[in-house]
Amino acid sequence: MKFQIFFAFGAVLLLSSCKHELPELIDDSGPCLPGVVYFKNDVLPILQSNCAMSGCHDAKTAREGIRLTDYANVMRAGVVKGSSRESELYKVLIDNNPGDIMPPPPASLTADQIKTIKDWIDQGAKNNACTSCDSSGTVSYSAKIWPIINSGCTGCHGYGKNTQLTSYSDVKVQVDNGKLSGALNHKSGFLPMPQGGAKWTDCQLRMLDRWIADGAPNN
Ligand code: HEC
Repeated sequence: MKFQIFFAFGAVLLLSSCKHELPELIDDSGPCLPGVVYFKNDVLPILQSNCAMSGCHDAKTAREGIRLTDYANVMRAGVVKGSSRESELYKVLIDNNPGDIMPPPPASLTADQIKTIKDWIDQGAKNNACTSCDSSGTVSYSAKIWPIINSGCTGCHGYGKNTQLTSYSDVKVQVDNGKLSGALNHKSGFLPMPQGGAKWTDCQLRMLDRWIADGAPNN
């Protein structure tokens, strides 16, 4: 009897540790409207490249418990929706005290970047996104294709996965065997991707297919 309880407990532990964390999915298919600040397009990239690096506010170091890596964690870092005046995340950017201002001197955000964060908070600090998708002309892999794969696929398709998508050469393998286009276009005979997420928009799929038609260059 004891053994059975033990066994059941172990199975529950095992199951819960296998549960897959879904990447955060927000609707980013609408066009980018002028005057609106978007978290995913405008704010997160500033935080990721200036604050969420190793030794500072990345997921691992998390100085002072602050991780500026995604919406939920950014909100926890002291954002009062609609009020930059009361938001710690904004106040540290304009602190007069060199010991308190973020990022620590000599690094600093530009006036434009600070305004972007202020406006985003004052507009309600929404978890919003838009698409600036443009399928005309030559499609750049690094600017147009990789960012969508990197943000929406690598969570499930990391190192050692059956279908690994962690670099250009991984992606190229899936282009050459036809699976990338098949899966993203939801063609029959392929697993529809992203699994559990929204199908890529028509514009994104047009971009993908044009890039593949150009020979899928690492451009
Ligand atoms: C929630 C997890 C998850 C997400 C997100 C996800 N996939 Fe998958 N994907 C899977 C699983 C599971 C399989 C089947 C096992 C394998 O091939 O790795 C798969 C298979 C594939 C395949 C092979 C399809 C086939 O028919 O054999 C491709 C290509 C693929 N995924 C591309 C993508 C791309 C591109 C994205 C992002 C837009 C993505 N996936 C997002 C879980 C996911």
